Amino acid sequence: GVAVGRSVRSRRRWRRVLGVLRELEDACETPVGRLRQVVDAMAVEMHAGLASEGGSKLKMLLTFVDTLPNGNEKGIYYALDLGGTNFRVLQVQLEGRRSSIFPPEVEQQPIPQHLMTSTREDLFDFIAASLKEFVERKEVSFGYSPEKRRELGFTVSFPVKQTSVSSGILIRWTKGFAIHDMVGKDIAESLQLALARNGLNMRVVALVNDTVGTLALGHYHDPDTVAAVIIGTGTNACYVERTDAIIKCQGLVTTSGLMVVNMEWGSFWSSHLPRTSYDIDLDAESPNPNEQGFEKMISGMYLGEIVRRVILRMSQESDIFGASLSNLSIPFILRTPLMAAMHEDNSPDLREVDEKWREMLEVPEVPKKARKVIVKVCDIVTRRAARLAAAGIVGILKKIGRDGGSITGGRSRGDARMRRSVVAIEGGLYTSYTMFREYLLEALREILGEDDARHVILKVTEDGSGLGAALLAAASHSSTPPPNT
Ligand code: GLC
Repeated sequence: GVAVGRSVRSRRRWRRVLGVLRELEDACETPVGRLRQVVDAMAVEMHAGLASEGGSKLKMLLTFVDTLPNGNEKGIYYALDLGGTNFRVLQVQLEGRRSSIFPPEVEQQPIPQHLMTSTREDLFDFIAASLKEFVERKEVSFGYSPEKRRELGFTVSFPVKQTSVSSGILIRWTKGFAIHDMVGKDIAESLQLALARNGLNMRVVALVNDTVGTLALGHYHDPDTVAAVIIGTGTNACYVERTDAIIKCQGLVTTSGLMVVNMEWGSFWSSHLPRTSYDIDLDAESPNPNEQGFEKMISGMYLGEIVRRVILRMSQESDIFGASLSNLSIPFILRTPLMAAMHEDNSPDLREVDEKWREMLEVPEVPKKARKVIVKVCDIVTRRAARLAAAGIVGILKKIGRDGGSITGGRSRGDARMRRSVVAIEGGLYTSYTMFREYLLEALREILGEDDARHVILKVTEDGSGLGAALLAAASHSSTPPPNT
């Protein structure tokens, strides 16, 4: 009697867990029809965001970058990359020939947690001091001189409303930063002041979003590069637009007739996005509710957190995970790299899952069946994210008439004349999470069709957000007209 009772109870517990799993799977479904709706919505929102200020959740920010580096850039340039958990400084020597830029000198440092929520002065004094040390160290071999002028490309991976190629106002923070006295102020100027306070003679000549740096480096290597996408801690994209399509900025004139637009696609929203109760709760409890909706379904900061919420829910329904999982109620305890490691566990009996789970939650062994459930949840969440990112990319191609569709001059699908389009891509999810990358590429082929998908090339750029900023610094510095003689 007791044994039978126990097995009935255990079956019931399993049924509940499988119920939660099935519900999740249904809610996260992204059949190709739905992805196409997301593609269309993205293209429509891009139009709306270009038509008027505040016309869409997509900010479609002007960057004032109207020419991309071409390989002729020369000189020594610095770059500072602020935007994720680490900030990076780099120095690069450009010799006017494409191949000679590598390897740059790069150093990376975590941003002390308390500075991420401190004041503008504290953050920038810390950064300026580190930058100064770096410069002194790098220049010691050819005689560091405090008087020497230096040019800096400053990458800021947050939404900035630019007022020129080298200045702009921080619209808001994303990805866990919260330095309130910075919002609404010129971020390049704040750095410039800190550089002066710290006695470093350096001029911010380019202020760029990380996607724009990535586009610059991508274009440097391959002139067919039309857009750049980052899928890391956060997610975003930028692309090359015709100035006459930027309706909200009448009379915008550039020599090329083009301008790079920073979409800030992390804040894209559409009713076609497959949203679950977990997404809704995550958003409501985040420091920026109703913001960055697309980002919260796709990027590295959030995927592990979604998985944590699902499994927490399961563990409240049933004890199939074994011991009590009290640590699982700690927000953000499940980081995305750990999630990737569990998802991609190929060991017999999913031993890696067991190990990672025990380490994270400080619990004894995880039952084998439960390990499979964990992997399945990771799979559902990652697959949805990757497929939505793919739809976003096709949305951009559609907007610029490079998706092979018939909107541009009646070219039919699979037409051999479809232009080659390169999208530069960066960020840990794409570069280090194989399943994510494979799902994304698979969805691209599904949406575009095998033939057209062949003309769309995703190219990983290495360190574009830093290096690209240095290239743009060089480009903008050398394009300054020489003084009249
Ligand atoms: C966030 C930022 C955006 C950045 C992206 C990738 O979405 O708002 O500016 O490009 O993260 O780092």
